[in-house]
Amino acid sequence: MGSIGIFDSGYGGLTILDGIRHLMPEYDYIYYGDNARAPYGTRSFDVVYEYTLEAVQKLFAMGCPLVILGCNTASAKALRTIQQHDLPLLAPDRRVLGVIRPTAEAVGAITHSRHVGILATEGTIRSESYTLEIHKLFPDIEVTGLACPMWVPLVENGEYAKPAADYFVRERIEELLHTDPLIDTIILGCTHYPLLINKIRKFCPPTIEIMTQGGYIASSLKDYLVRHPDMDARLSRGGTVQYFTSESPERFGENASIFLSTSIKVKALSSPPRKGVVRPAPE
Ligand code: DGL
Repeated sequence: MGSIGIFDSGYGGLTILDGIRHLMPEYDYIYYGDNARAPYGTRSFDVVYEYTLEAVQKLFAMGCPLVILGCNTASAKALRTIQQHDLPLLAPDRRVLGVIRPTAEAVGAITHSRHVGILATEGTIRSESYTLEIHKLFPDIEVTGLACPMWVPLVENGEYAKPAADYFVRERIEELLHTDPLIDTIILGCTHYPLLINKIRKFCPPTIEIMTQGGYIASSLKDYLVRHPDMDARLSRGGTVQYFTSESPERFGENASIFLSTSIKVKALSSPPRKGVVRPAPE
């Protein structure tokens, strides 16, 4: 029996953990934020893959039978390789799930104009993962992606509620809606962005639906566990959460308590210095 592991490059995955715990408070969770190496959004495929695999292995070592990559950048750049290449070798009985597919599944029922905007990190936008996943399910939807490279640093540095953040939020929203004025739904395709939701709403016309991911990931996970009772039976149910960070636990605790509006205990989990890891060749 083990906890559900939730991984993010930093604080953003707390918005996913929050959504999941709201729906399924009975399970045990281990959250790991790689704050020491955030942001991931501007890093190469190889580096994001290397860091993400390392995090998954840490969560496996702590006994998690199931790990959620609560990070769009990691889901876009590392999930498929980990699922297809690493899991069969490392831990064939464990599972790693991401956040892009469940979000893509949900958008079809939300957009009426069939024009959807994606705001995400540079890595997620460049990977085109959202466009590909949405088109697999809803080929009629027009997808416009835009990277917001300043938004994660605003959140990681605790600047997301300050007036200075207005400029960076308004400028990206205007750019997106200028590119496609028919957009009626915007996916916040980065787990950090819900922290900017008040500012995003301020600069978006009220007719636009803004999708944050926590609730959708939670319903999709619940559905997954119903369809996989063997995995469900391996998950412990004590209602606990343990928090780990690769940076300062004190700093994580202070910032995380703003996100979660409760105080938490955090432990350190160090990241080894970067070594050259060779990505498997595509099959
Ligand atoms: N929160 C992550 C995401 O959902 C990435 C943030 C970052 O580290 O750049 O994409």
